[in-house]
Amino acid sequence: MRANKPLHPQKQKLSSPNGGKPGYFILPKSACIWFSCGFVSLALLHLFCCSSSGAREAVFSPLLQYVDDTYNFISSGPGGGKSCNYSEGRWVWAPGHARRYNATECNVKWSHNCIRNGRHDTGYLDWRWQPEGCRLPAFDAKRFLSAMRGKHVAFVGDSMARNQVQSLICLLSAAFPPRIVYRDPEPWKCYFWRWAFPTHDVTVSFYWAPFIARATGKAVNESMAQNMNYVYLDALDDRWAADADTMDVVVLTAGHWFLNGAIYYNGSRVIGHHVHDELNASDIIGYAWPMQLAYRMALDRLSSGRPRTVMLATFSPPHFEGRTLTTGCPRKGPYEEGEKELRPVEKELRSLMYEEAEAATRRSGTTRVEVLDVTKLAFMRPDGHPGAYTHGDPSASGVHKWMLADCLHFCLPGPVDTFNEILQQLLTKSQGEVR
Ligand SMILES: *[C@@H]1O[C@H](CO)[C@@H](O)[C@H](O)[C@H]1NC(C)=O
Ligand SMILES: *[C@@H]1O[C@H](CO)[C@@H](O)[C@H](O)[C@H]1NC(C)=O
Ligand SMILES: *[C@@H]1O[C@H](CO)[C@@H](O)[C@H](O)[C@H]1NC(C)=O
Ligand SMILES: *[C@@H]1O[C@H](CO)[C@@H](O)[C@H](O)[C@H]1NC(C)=O
Ligand SMILES: *[C@@H]1O[C@H](CO)[C@@H](O)[C@H](O)[C@H]1NC(C)=O
Repeated sequence: MRANKPLHPQKQKLSSPNGGKPGYFILPKSACIWFSCGFVSLALLHLFCCSSSGAREAVFSPLLQYVDDTYNFISSGPGGGKSCNYSEGRWVWAPGHARRYNATECNVKWSHNCIRNGRHDTGYLDWRWQPEGCRLPAFDAKRFLSAMRGKHVAFVGDSMARNQVQSLICLLSAAFPPRIVYRDPEPWKCYFWRWAFPTHDVTVSFYWAPFIARATGKAVNESMAQNMNYVYLDALDDRWAADADTMDVVVLTAGHWFLNGAIYYNGSRVIGHHVHDELNASDIIGYAWPMQLAYRMALDRLSSGRPRTVMLATFSPPHFEGRTLTTGCPRKGPYEEGEKELRPVEKELRSLMYEEAEAATRRSGTTRVEVLDVTKLAFMRPDGHPGAYTHGDPSASGVHKWMLADCLHFCLPGPVDTFNEILQQLLTKSQGEVR
């Protein structure tokens, strides 16, 4: 399957209902034209006035997508309006739009391969992100690799960073098969992963660093309790920091682990904690300040050395609605506009990225720092998670798999592919700006 061809325009072949046979009565040609125009206008009028917005989208989405792809094909410059804000918009129904690849063939982490794990309802693949004021072009593997020629693209952060890097690899793989340079041998781990695209001399890496900063405890030992993290706010995580000088594009994604709780250090001295009731209440420092310090440290590190682009991906909100198999994340479609509101903490973590990007831009002249704002589009998709389908068909096995329901990461293919479509637009906007 091609990675990035929209599937529907081909289905829109026009066919005449009577198979092209001559009609039983003949009208003058001009009358025919007027009659057809009238009919089409009436049909359009009906569609706009009398049908649901869903039906409207269903009719126009494929058409618009087709027009859009044609436009992108004929224009050599990057698609998307210059003033477009990809972070605001809505999901519109577009059958088959998100069936971009086969996750088994691009070898994704098993727990995100929803279809192979038995998820049969695939309506979550029938939606397209419609930003306000422009069209978001489909991912273009060739254009992405050409723009990144000779570069090292690194994803640094938590499991959402991993989710996104796997989506990117799948989007690229069908057209340009990568060579896996390194992958942790344990299939559940995937702390460090690297691919090479020899055709374009592009390297893509993933570095597990859920606090960006150096951390021990749960961050490196799955069997520990969720809040048992020991984080050093005076040092970056060693693995990615050691490679920082080789990175040309860095996507930083963190947030969830700061909420989970940790004890924070400056060298050997405890400077505070979050979600550790056993410690002194006066030492509570919350999640925002340590997160800010970790990002500042990372951005300072990435501001020295070669010029580069850093993308700060915003918080991707989870959708856990309960603790059972059936209520894990049971939604079968996106939220309606206004149906649910972002929680204050989610808004706060999103704004924090804008603040840090702005502050970093003021501090450094050579590094381009931008926000990859995915919060709204991720928030609107409670239906796109693996849920119970993290490791096989739960209805077939009938055991209590609910404890492992995943309502945070996205299925692959799935809504997370849109993160990379936006990333592509941000990286390629105003030609040659990627440094
Ligand atoms: C895009 O929208 C977000 C969310 O409303 C806003 O915070 C941000 O400033 C906007 N970006 C631009 C470039 O206008
Ligand atoms: C994906 O690919 C695998 C291996 O080639 C194949 O067995 C499977 O049927 C494919 N799945 C879909 C949904 O096409
Ligand atoms: C991981 O944590 C568990 C539980 O605290 C502990 O028993 C185990 O020794 C740790 N493993 C490593 C490699 O540190
Ligand atoms: C850590 O300690 C050093 C030396 O005392 C100090 O300069 C620095 O500001 C401290 N950092 C934090 C985050 O407390
Ligand atoms: C809490 O603070 C008190 C007074 O400063 C100190 O004596 C005590 O050791 C602290 N407890 C912990 C767990 O840090």
